[in-house]
Amino acid sequence: MSDTQVTRAVVIGCGHYLPENIVPNSAFTKTLDTSDEWIISRSGIERRHFAAKDENTSHLATHAARAALADAGIEAETLDAILVATSTPDLTFPSVATMVQAEIGAFSAYAFDVQAVCAGFVYALANANALILSGQARRVLVIGAETFSRIMDWTDRGTCVLFGDGAGALILEAQQGTGTVADRGILSTDLNADGRQRDVLFVDGGVSSTGTAGQLRMQGKEVFRHAVEKLASTAETALQKAGLGPEQIDWIVPHQANIRIIQGTAKKLGLSMDQVIVTVQDHGNTSAASIPLALSVGAQQGKLKRGDLIVTEAIGGGLAWGAVVLRW
Ligand code: UT7
Repeated sequence: MSDTQVTRAVVIGCGHYLPENIVPNSAFTKTLDTSDEWIISRSGIERRHFAAKDENTSHLATHAARAALADAGIEAETLDAILVATSTPDLTFPSVATMVQAEIGAFSAYAFDVQAVCAGFVYALANANALILSGQARRVLVIGAETFSRIMDWTDRGTCVLFGDGAGALILEAQQGTGTVADRGILSTDLNADGRQRDVLFVDGGVSSTGTAGQLRMQGKEVFRHAVEKLASTAETALQKAGLGPEQIDWIVPHQANIRIIQGTAKKLGLSMDQVIVTVQDHGNTSAASIPLALSVGAQQGKLKRGDLIVTEAIGGGLAWGAVVLRW
């Protein structure tokens, strides 16, 4: 054991929120040429939650933030920073993060959004870690929150059956570690992007182009191909950076886009599905919210235990992808 003292960003609380309205696959068969069987067999999705008309991303994020604060047993005034990963903000500006800050009364915290689509939470977590390691914050609230139901083309069966709404939150705190992989907290991160792949997954509108919010467009097969290849590779790179191997992982908490991608990545890493937190059947793809939702559900179910080694990984529009290795 090293006696070096190093700062680690340690998870001290988590929480999530899902809108009340649960929509089963059967809801789509009335208007689209699709079936419960197709959706389950191709994606693993059985149901998803959709936000109510008057419920925006900041509302979902605020509920998740309050749950995480309660779980950590801390007051909002003790937060130094709030990062919200989202691609579906309430407004073009101000950020969702500042809206959450006002709602929870975290007036000592600076606040901003991170936009890396489905990889948004991994990006936000890695950047929150960097803020903590560089001494710019001691306590950071990191949220993933989305209302992808607002950017669906309801006539496109290849996309609208896949996505859902929700939010999850973690609170990270600077704590002293020994500098070894036995430390709790974030042990390594790996972030990547390839902007040449912008056409495989994008929204066809925006402030400075169409002046509209636009709708999601996806070449599903292409994204699938990239996902299977890049997710295992970023997880392996992050593990290598920490000086760890896949055999040391207790849990993978992957982005929840498709059960077949989740199974493929687990297999490439040599892990059994018993070591994977899976929520895609209940939540669908909630983009940046999917990982914190899965972490919070996994913790509530008593699966994730203090000291467990967790790898999170995600890929989304950009393309942007990455992984974070942390000890719970
Ligand atoms: O979170 C960001 C990252 N996103 C992802 O990771 C999503 C990645 N992609 C996927 O998950 C999968 O590619 C999908 C679930 C989107 C599609 O599964 P697939 O096995 O790749 O199907 P496909 O797109 O190749 O479509 C197969 C067939 C097509 O019909 P034809 O051309 O073979 O006649 C589609 O038109 O299935 C058809 N299809 C559907 N059929 C019934 C597409 N969507 C549906 C549907 N219901 N909802």
